[in-house]
Amino acid sequence: MSSCLPARPTPDSRLPDAVRRLRAAGCVFAEDEALLLVRSVADSADPDANDPDANELDALVARRVAGEPLEHILGWAEFHGLRVLVDPGVFVPRRRTGFLVDLALHHLRQAEPGQAIMVDLCCGSGAVGAAILAQLPAAQVHAADLQPEAVRCARRNLAGPGGRVHAGDLYSALPTELRGRVDVLIANAPYVPSDAIGLMPPEARDHEPRLALDGGTDGLDVLRRVIADAPAWLAPGAILVVEAGAGQTSALVEAAARVGLTARVARSEALDAIAIVASR
Ligand SMILES: C[S@@+](CC[C@H](N)C(=O)[O-])C[C@H]1O[C@@H](n2cnc3c(N)ncnc32)[C@H](O)[C@@H]1O
Repeated sequence: MSSCLPARPTPDSRLPDAVRRLRAAGCVFAEDEALLLVRSVADSADPDANDPDANELDALVARRVAGEPLEHILGWAEFHGLRVLVDPGVFVPRRRTGFLVDLALHHLRQAEPGQAIMVDLCCGSGAVGAAILAQLPAAQVHAADLQPEAVRCARRNLAGPGGRVHAGDLYSALPTELRGRVDVLIANAPYVPSDAIGLMPPEARDHEPRLALDGGTDGLDVLRRVIADAPAWLAPGAILVVEAGAGQTSALVEAAARVGLTARVARSEALDAIAIVASR
């Protein structure tokens, strides 16, 4: 039976409008983002509701147009082939940080320790640990962060048997029995110089916590502390892997040498990533 009532707009029929609004707001990947938002509405729709999606897509698009990171709106980010949960206010894992995961996996596969112990300091959402566990399910991952929202989020991403998440300032959060037993110690700590925070895209500076970004005057306040105490936690043959910015590598290699670690600079052009890999 035909009806003379106009069809109620569904999210799919609103796709072109969402694309237009996102494009007008300057979103470079407007088509892809609009599709993800449409799918998000469809996935969360109550199948029994008469009009499950009426205003929801509009609301999500409005949040994106206002500058909120897409990942906070969706509630997840893609990282190293995984869908990682990301709560509002928690640092969004960046694609380049997958380089730390690759370096860690390479080392762990070569070393083949019985049950590898991996620590992720400054874990944020717990993305790095989740990516390691996805590849090495027998590993034991200890992740830690100072921000309560990050700790809560990481506990959701590392809820499986191999993951444990601790709250607190750097190493003070960790169980002391890990001292001298860690096979890979990773830290993607804040490393943006304080003066450069204002130059970051609004998505980051307005929606990610300063604690996650600000590394102090030269960006290295937290990383220097990570390196200084690393030798006490690393097992023989273990490595420390930290992400760094261009222009920070020499200072970090020197900081590692001061505590008896031999460090090298690793780069991934594909991921636009720089890491320092240090060993005893
Ligand atoms: C750049 S974010 C990286 C998060 C995560 N590693 C990732 O790559 O997605 C830095 C994280 O360090 C945490 N953080 C900053 N200072 C810290 C400290 N002193 N102790 C523990 N965590 C800290 C922040 O809360 C934030 O989650």
